[in-house]
Amino acid sequence: MFHRTARVIEHVRLAERTHRVRLECPELAAAIRPGQFVMLRLPGTTDPLLGRPFALYDTVLDASGTPVCIDVVYLVVGKMTARLPGVEAGKSLEVCGPLGKPFLDVGTPERVTFVAGGIGQTPFLAFARELLGTRGFGGDAPRKRTEKVSLYYGVRTASLAAGVEDFHAAGVDVQLASDDGSIGTKGFVTQLLASHGKTGPLVGCGPEPMLHALAKVAAAWQVPCQVSLETPMACGVGICFSCVAKVTTPDGWDYKRVCMDGPAFDAAQLVWN
Ligand SMILES: Cc1cc2nc3c(=O)[nH]c(=O)nc-3n(C[C@H](O)[C@H](O)[C@H](O)COP(=O)(O)OP(=O)(O)OC[C@H]3O[C@@H](n4cnc5c(N)ncnc54)[C@H](O)[C@@H]3O)c2cc1C
Ligand code: FES
Repeated sequence: MFHRTARVIEHVRLAERTHRVRLECPELAAAIRPGQFVMLRLPGTTDPLLGRPFALYDTVLDASGTPVCIDVVYLVVGKMTARLPGVEAGKSLEVCGPLGKPFLDVGTPERVTFVAGGIGQTPFLAFARELLGTRGFGGDAPRKRTEKVSLYYGVRTASLAAGVEDFHAAGVDVQLASDDGSIGTKGFVTQLLASHGKTGPLVGCGPEPMLHALAKVAAAWQVPCQVSLETPMACGVGICFSCVAKVTTPDGWDYKRVCMDGPAFDAAQLVWN
């Protein structure tokens, strides 16, 4: 795990209240894998005191193919993310990672389907590249694991859809849904998924009601489904227990720390409220 001050190389707006920040941190970029996350903290301030968790969006390679930067895509929701756009290129951020575990192994199916709601698309770009064999992570050489990756991506309205071009460029089949019908199909993204019929393994990230609906679709189709949880976190490294999720065990259920045991969990093992 690396904890360092990283220079902001680029900071661009992708959509309404949504930005991508590129951080120069070669050791972290070389080690991190899809599904893992970093804690970002504003330097030189105690307000907010604690860092905030953000998924790996992508790694950036130099001309020789060596990972040198990581990209994070974030939605402005509160104290820290409201200040983050002010950290322009040339300034720096404190970054700690890689944290958590990579996505669970999906095997080598013909197709893998991601289902994202809100800002839940962020962990999927790197995972798509890994599964399609166009990028290796954590020191591994690229290895193709599937022929097709689909992203079902639901947003409230068109102006919030962020990074769709990045997914297209990575060779991902993108299916959009919106609450108001301003982009893609009107309705919930899980309804769009269900209307297209049974797929192979599912991977979800987004608001809990969406993940619960996805878990029900996966159970009905009897296909493997993992979900990446975005539980609020204080420490990110297993100390505070602020991030727990209920997981079934042979004796009933137990709390698991999302920062250490996740953030991805088998949807069939989670206890949904
Ligand atoms: C593993 C992981 C990966 C994440 N990846 C991303 C990412 O790639 N991009 C991104 O934009 N966000 C991501 N998040 C969510 C992100 O951490 C929060 O949006 C961020 O902490 C908000 O910080 P803030 O200081 O701006 O908001 P705060 O001031 O701390 O909170 C503002 C409001 O948002 C609520 N809130 C804060 N965090 C969450 C949360 N996680 N879920 C639901 N409500 C919350 C608070 O209760 C409050 O109402 C991720 C979370 C986790 C756990
Ligand atoms: S955030 Fe502290 S234990 Fe997970």
